[in-house]
Amino acid sequence: MKILSAPQTREADAQTISEEKIASEELMERAARAFVGWFENKFTPECPVCIFSGPGNNGGDGLAVARLLHQRLFDVQLYLVNDGGQTSPDFQLNLERLPHEVPPHDITSKDHLLAIPDKACVIDALFGTGLSRPVTGLYADVINWLNEYSPCTVAIDIPSGLYTDKQTPAEGAIVQAHHTVSFELPKLAFFLPQHEQYVGEWHTVPIGLSPAYLAEAKSNFQYVTQKEMQGLLKPRTKFSHKGTYGHALLLCGGYGKMGAAVLAARACLRGGVGLLTVQTPAIGYDVLQTAVPEAMLIPDNNRKHLSRLLESMEKYDAIGIGPGIGTERLTKTLLGQLLATTDLPLVIDADAINLIASSEKLKAQLPKGKVIFTPHPKEFERLVCKSNNEYERLEELREFCRVYQCYMVLKGSHSAIATPEGDIYFNTTGNAGMATGGTGDVLTGILTALVAQGYTLKEACLLGVYLHGLAGDLAKGTVGEIALIASDVIQHLPQAFQQLRR
Ligand code: ACO
Repeated sequence: MKILSAPQTREADAQTISEEKIASEELMERAARAFVGWFENKFTPECPVCIFSGPGNNGGDGLAVARLLHQRLFDVQLYLVNDGGQTSPDFQLNLERLPHEVPPHDITSKDHLLAIPDKACVIDALFGTGLSRPVTGLYADVINWLNEYSPCTVAIDIPSGLYTDKQTPAEGAIVQAHHTVSFELPKLAFFLPQHEQYVGEWHTVPIGLSPAYLAEAKSNFQYVTQKEMQGLLKPRTKFSHKGTYGHALLLCGGYGKMGAAVLAARACLRGGVGLLTVQTPAIGYDVLQTAVPEAMLIPDNNRKHLSRLLESMEKYDAIGIGPGIGTERLTKTLLGQLLATTDLPLVIDADAINLIASSEKLKAQLPKGKVIFTPHPKEFERLVCKSNNEYERLEELREFCRVYQCYMVLKGSHSAIATPEGDIYFNTTGNAGMATGGTGDVLTGILTALVAQGYTLKEACLLGVYLHGLAGDLAKGTVGEIALIASDVIQHLPQAFQQLRR
C-alpha cells in the first residue's frame, strides 16, 4: 500500500470531495465517525475525555469528535487552543454544531489550562497534516503540558507538531501520543524509529478516500500488508520434487560462530528450499551435521576449497553469505573471487557486508541486479554512510541501491526494503523481542531459501521480511517478548506460512 505525502493527502481529500460531490464538512464528519468508531472499541464512557482542538481542520475534526462522543454518552471537556489566528470554515461550522452540554473552553494563555482528571483520555486535535512550521509559543506550552500531565493521549491523524514526511526541526514541540489514529493510510513519519515516542501505537481507519486517486498517486514509499503477501506466496504443485524448490548454498560459520550457521541453515530449510548445501570451516562439521541433518555439507579448512566450489556453481540457485564468517584476509579474498565469478543471486549479510564496506574494490565487483544486502543500522553506516537523521538515511539507502543496482533490507522495527528503482517498502510485522542475537542469521536463511525457489529478489525481500516478522510475532504469543530467542522465530516459521496460506 502506498504512503502519501502531506500534499497528496490534501489532494486525496479534494478529489474525494469533487468525485462524490460532497461538501468538505461531510468528509470531516466521515473522518470523525471513523475515529469515534475506533475510540469506542478502546475506551468506555466511564473514561472522561479532554479534547484539545487547534484552529485548522484537524481542530474541526476534534470538534466533530466532541459532538459524536457526547452523543455516545462520554463525558467530554473541550478546549479550543488559539493564539489569535484565523480558524478554518469547517472548524467554524462544527463549532456551531456543538450541543450546549459541551461548552468550549478557550485557551489563549497557558494560565487557562486546567488539571486533567486521573483516568482521562486526552484527544490531540491541535494540528494535523497542515502543520506548516515548528510549533512554538502557546501551542508549544499546551503540548509540553499535555506531555507532562496527560495519562493517555490519542492523536487524531498525526501527533501535533510532527511533520508528515520530513524532518521536524528540533525547536518545535511535538505531542507524545500513546495512540495515533490515522485516516485511511499511515504517514511516512510513523515508520521511523526516532518518532516512536510521539506516535505510540498507530492505527488506520478508512474514510473512503477516492480509490481512483489512491490507485494513481505516485509514491516511492509503501508499506507491506498481509493481503499483498498472501498474493506473493507460490503454491506447491502435486507433481513437484525437491529439485523444483531450488538448491541453496550458504557460506557461513566460523570458530565460535557456528550458531550463526546453524540458525541460517535451519531457517533456510524452514523457508521451503528443496536442497541446502552449507559451506563451513571443518571445525563446524560435527556441529552442523548433528544440528541440521537435512543439510549437505562442504567442510572447508580455511576455505581453501572455495575455488573448487566456484567451479561447480551451476548446481545452485542462490547463495547466502555472511553469518559468522569473520573478516580475515583470506575470507575477503574469497569473497572477491565469488563476486567476480558468480552470476547467481546473492544474499549478503553480517561480516560479508563488513568486508564489502571496507573495500571499494569489492563494491565495484558487485553484480548488478543480483544482490540483496541485509544490514542492521551499524552495518549500514559502514557500508553506506552515517546519516544525520532518518529521512536522510532513507535517501542514502535509495541512492546506494540505485548506484549499485541492488536490493537492501535495512533491518529495524519497520525494516525498510529498498529496490534499485528507488522504491522503499516498510515491513509491518515483528516486535521488540526480535532484538536479540541470531535473528539476522535467520533472515539470511529465509531470504536465500526464497530466492533459490525462484522468487524474484524483490518478492523474496518483501515476503521473507514479512514472514520473518510474522514468525517473531507468533513466537511472542508463545514465549513473550523478553525471553524470545532466534530459534523461536524458526520454530514459528511453519505457522507463519500457514497463516499466509489462509
Ligand atoms: N503554529 C501555529 N499555527 C499553525 C502551525 C504552527 N506551527 N502550523 C500550521 N498552523 C495553522 C495554519 O494557520 C494552518 O492553516 P492554513 O492552512 O490556513 O494556513 C492550520 O494551522 C493547519 O492546521 P491543520 O489542522 O493541521 O491542517 P488542515 O486544516 O489542512 O487539516 C486535516 C488537516 C485535513 C484535518 C488532516 O489532518 C485530516 O485529518 N484529514 C482527514 C480528513 C478530514 O478530516 N478532512 C477535513 C475535511 S476535507 C478538507 O479539509 C479539504
